[in-house]
Amino acid sequence: MITESTKANEIRKTIKGQQIQLAGPSTRAVHANRRSNPYQSIGEPIVQTATYQFKDSADLTDFMEANLWGKSPERTEYGRYGNPTITAVEKRLAGLENAEDAILFSSGMAAITTVLLAILPSGANIVMTDDCYRQTRQFCKTFLKRLGISCTVVPMGDYDALDNAINPNTRLLISETPTNPYLRVLDIERFVSIAKKHKVKTFVDATFATPLNIRPLDWGVDLVVHSATKYLGGHNDILAGVVAGKSNIIEGLRGTLGVLGAISDPHSASLLLRGIKTLGLRIAQQNLNGLKVSQFLESHNKIEQVWYPGLPSHPDYLIAEEQMNGFGGVVSFTVKGDLDTASKLIDLFEIPLIAASFGGVESLVEQPALMSYYELSTEERLFLGISNNLVRLSLGIEDTNDLIADLEQALERI
Ligand SMILES: Cc1ncc(COP(=O)(O)O)c(C=O)c1O
Repeated sequence: MITESTKANEIRKTIKGQQIQLAGPSTRAVHANRRSNPYQSIGEPIVQTATYQFKDSADLTDFMEANLWGKSPERTEYGRYGNPTITAVEKRLAGLENAEDAILFSSGMAAITTVLLAILPSGANIVMTDDCYRQTRQFCKTFLKRLGISCTVVPMGDYDALDNAINPNTRLLISETPTNPYLRVLDIERFVSIAKKHKVKTFVDATFATPLNIRPLDWGVDLVVHSATKYLGGHNDILAGVVAGKSNIIEGLRGTLGVLGAISDPHSASLLLRGIKTLGLRIAQQNLNGLKVSQFLESHNKIEQVWYPGLPSHPDYLIAEEQMNGFGGVVSFTVKGDLDTASKLIDLFEIPLIAASFGGVESLVEQPALMSYYELSTEERLFLGISNNLVRLSLGIEDTNDLIADLEQALERI
């Protein structure tokens, strides 16, 4: 019998859930889709297992029958198909992205490659913007080609070229926002309207933005991917990737993940969930550091050029102003001089550590000519728009004044 008090409890529960769903992103990062667990622990239990047991054969048969009829039972039978710690992070990420569902992978590249292998039929064409992550471009240009999938690359920011590149076989438009290393910002509204006109799906890598600075699904994008190794994890201690979107697409991806096997592990998932809880605070500081440091660099006489979407001098400043909530923590710049001048400057920094990656609490710095593009000649690098004196600074959560003082002392000594 439904009593008045059970009814009242039901109503209270619904309102409670709704309040979190309507809350701001920092609140959702802490509370969205929080699940209870057998221990009532605030920290999500780390379920370290490769497989799961059944009480008896009837229990097993019930599970198999439910699976057979697509009823997606709450449990699974084997670690490659799922894990409760991983499910907890997926639910939180879905809440943060305003997505129906999300799926976690062992790395950003595992997420990107699994999605593309899952949704593209042989003979399909994809159109991608040219400033995408190097390994994503490599996968599309070489691996997908072997499966008979062609890839057309168009310049980032050229929406007519994007529109014209779509042909009857095109299934997917791929872009990143902001891009690496020049922080080009996608006009998501225009990107989605071109895709809709041609009835093709959209896939956006928003790793540099994070769900705090832009949520592509809110603009009508079909799938959003993040290398959770970066800002979402936020502590330079895990590798992970996440894809969010409509449940029917994510459900299909789960099937492919089960076959390809690029599943995350419960320890990484637990660290990711912990990292996500402080995302709002970290991004606020990283947005501030990005803006202040880019303004400082732009005003310095030893700096040639600065790229940061929050500077009016950036080619996409107006779009970034209109569509983003913050401009992120990565700043790229060229120092007046050559390869050695840039290296000397980097060596003089005391706070930023020389390392690949970005998005963690520690500021990191890299000279693309000596890191991501080392194997290329100067001419080949210049052809790709990478000059020897280019520096990419990924700001952490250190105090803004300390970062600026550190840059200032290093610039004085070159
Ligand atoms: C924009 C972007 N997407 C995807 C990736 C790949 O992520 P992961 O290193 O987690 O595989 C990276 C890595 O740097 C990246 O910068």
